[in-house]
Parts: sequence; structure tokens; C-alpha cells
Amino acid sequence: MWRNTKDRELRDRAAEVIPGGMYGHQSTAMMPEGFPQFFTGAKGTRITDADGNEYIDYMCAYGPNLLGYQQPDVMRAVAEQQGRIDASTGPSPLIVDLAEAMVGMISHADWAMFCKNGADATMMALMIARAYRDKRKVLVARNAYHGSMPWNTPRPAGVVAEDRAHLIYFDYNDTQSLADAAKQAGDDLAGIFAAPFRHDTFADQSLPDAEYARTARRIADEYDALLIVDDVRAGLRLCRDCSWETVGVRPDLSAWGKVLGNGQPISALVGNNRARAAASRIFVTGSFWFAAVPMAAAIETLRIVRESDYLERLTAIGEQFRAGLAAQAVEFGFGLRQTGPAATPMVLFEDDPDFRLGYGFCREAMTRGVYMSPYHNMFMNAAMTETDVAQTLEATGAAFEAIKKSRASLKPSPVLAALMEA
Ligand SMILES: Cc1ncc(COP(=O)(O)O)c(C=O)c1O
Repeated sequence: MWRNTKDRELRDRAAEVIPGGMYGHQSTAMMPEGFPQFFTGAKGTRITDADGNEYIDYMCAYGPNLLGYQQPDVMRAVAEQQGRIDASTGPSPLIVDLAEAMVGMISHADWAMFCKNGADATMMALMIARAYRDKRKVLVARNAYHGSMPWNTPRPAGVVAEDRAHLIYFDYNDTQSLADAAKQAGDDLAGIFAAPFRHDTFADQSLPDAEYARTARRIADEYDALLIVDDVRAGLRLCRDCSWETVGVRPDLSAWGKVLGNGQPISALVGNNRARAAASRIFVTGSFWFAAVPMAAAIETLRIVRESDYLERLTAIGEQFRAGLAAQAVEFGFGLRQTGPAATPMVLFEDDPDFRLGYGFCREAMTRGVYMSPYHNMFMNAAMTETDVAQTLEATGAAFEAIKKSRASLKPSPVLAALMEA
């Protein structure tokens, strides 16, 4: 029987000592009512909340869980490295090993730099693009998320216009819009930020048109600017290389994070020789950026990526999950829009402008042991099995049935309604 007594108690305590009770993307404020805020365990495909409820986790820590939580080989590498050296007065030799591993694996990469979060890596990319020819303007796809720094955070509080003074927005997959934005930047164009696929929240996802990707490359070359692919979210879920290898386009820089250490805190920016001099000129650092334990985890994660069929498995499972949901939607008379790559699936309901069906559905699935998001793309991991999918579909079948019965009384989340209005 699903319970949330402890979660409620923790929320009350958190409300006293944590602004807003919780912050950032791991706050459940935008999730359906009752979604657990606090977790005490994560193993394989499952997470356990503070009340002891277990869920098959389709958010995977918002990405990092690629191979399964606590994947044994990665955890062994972590434990061994912890006994040697971690954060210290200088980096360990692992930084060279890891840079070599990334350069060996990512076709466009000639060098690598390491940091902690995806936003560190995208910020470095922004700075390197500007340092490259001492230019200022950067093109960014409208609604694309590249981290919570002032230049890109999705909420306006604490951000001033000057933080974004030199950004020019264009529409994803729209070559004309991209060309117009570049024209507007003119001689001052420093870089183009490209998301591997359109990943807007609350919206259908779309894969990049090869023509759009090629246009981005051509414009960057024409203006002597840098092309950046932000692979923080999609990295290693679409291919074992930079995600835009899937459309045959190589950027100058790509940003990595989330999956890199299978959950250990590490991110990276890699680049080609064209960007090397600019990368050596900027000053960027952090007290924990050189820590060796997450690097050991990343080296092991990349070894598994190179040597196993993790990608084929997680893609196949993603397709099974998608096909199962599609069949159930038909069975229960709902229209579903399933978009984006199977490894990072987005599931939205047709005729659901205020998301009440999606929210009701995810809440019903959650109380039956399946953690899904009604508004954000989800993430598959390679530990997922057919048994997990079968168990998931049992829960989602019951969730479809429940919302079919309660359809007339489902309500939109007030927080979500306010956000969408803003
Ligand atoms: C595409 C993309 N870029 C950058 C980031 C920022 O990563 P982090 O939250 O690790 O700073 C995210 C996080 O979701 C992301 O999805």
C-alpha cells in the first residue's frame, strides 16, 4: 500500500530551512500532487522513497543513470579510487586517461576539459566561443535548456537583460530562422548553440533535420564562429559519439554531463583543434572539478559504453515501453503523442491543453510503482529488462483505466497552470 507520511513530515521540515521547500528541477512542485520529494535508496532500475515505496524510475535522476543505479563495475572503480586520492592539491593522472578516452571516442574531439555540472560545460562553451575571435553574439534555439546560469535559466527572477544582451534566438529545425539570426549577428557572431534534438518541456520533441544541422555547420564556418552541440541530456543515449554524428555533422565543441560517470558528479567540454587556443585562454575552474573519484567512475562508464551493448538494450527497451503504452492508449480510448528518441521518450496526451490527463495518469502510475513525468522527457537505462517493462505496463494499464473513470473530475495542477500562464 502506497504511503507518504514520512515524505510529508520531511516536506514540513524542509519548508522551514530550504527556500521554497525545495528548488530546481528536482523539486516536485511541478509534478502531480503527492509525488515523493525524498528518496532513500536507488539500485538498478529502482528508486525507493522516504516511506519505503519502490518505483521503476523513468527519470533516471534526470539523465545520469545510464547503466543502472550503483552499477557494480562503476561502484568498484569508485570504491578503489576513494582509497587513493579524490579532491586534492592537483589532479590525478586519471584526468589524462579520461581526456584520452573521450578524445578516442568522440569523433570531433581533440581535447577535453572536466567540470561538475552540465551548466559548467555549457558556460565554458559560451566563453570559448567568445574568446575564439573576441566576438560576442551567440545563437540559441528558442526554449532550449542549457543549464541554470543567468544566460539560460528558464525563470526570470534574478536575471537582468544584460545577462542575455548578446544572445539571439532562432527556431529549432528552421534553417531560415537560423540564417536570419546569423545575419543579425553579422561580424559579431561568436557561436551557435545546438541541442541534439528539440527537447522543450511541455512540448513534443523532434529529432534534428540533417539539412538544419548542415546549415548550422555551414553558417558557423562562413562567419568563422564555433558550432556547439550541447550533449548534456542526449549524450550516450543516441550513439557512442557526439549525438550529431547521427546526422553526419561535427561541431567544434560539445558539452557533456549527466551520464558521464553514471551518476558520479562529473561533466566535460570537448573540442577540436580549431577551438584549442581559445580553450587555453579562458580562466575556468572549481574546487571539485579535478576530483579523481568521479573521473574513475567516468573511465569505467566509458569502458562499458565501448565494450557492451548497453545502447542497443536501452533503445530496445525504450521501444518496448513506447509500443506498450501506445497499445494501451488505443485500448482505453486515449490519444497519445510519443515523440523524441526512444531512449529519451516524451509522452503527452492529445486534447490535454492543461495537462490534466497527463498529470492524472502519472499520478495513478506513481501510486502503482512507476515514476514518470507528465511534462518532461524521460530517460531509459540499460539495466531495464522486459520484466520491468511488463511490470510498468501493468501499472500504466491500471492508470489508463483509472483516469478513464475519473476523467470528468481530473483537475490541472494549480502550480502548473500558473507557470504556463507566466
Ligand atoms: C541539454 C542540457 N544542457 C545543460 C543542462 C544542465 O546540466 P546540469 O543540470 O548538470 O547543470 C541540462 C540539464 O538538464 C540539459 O538538459
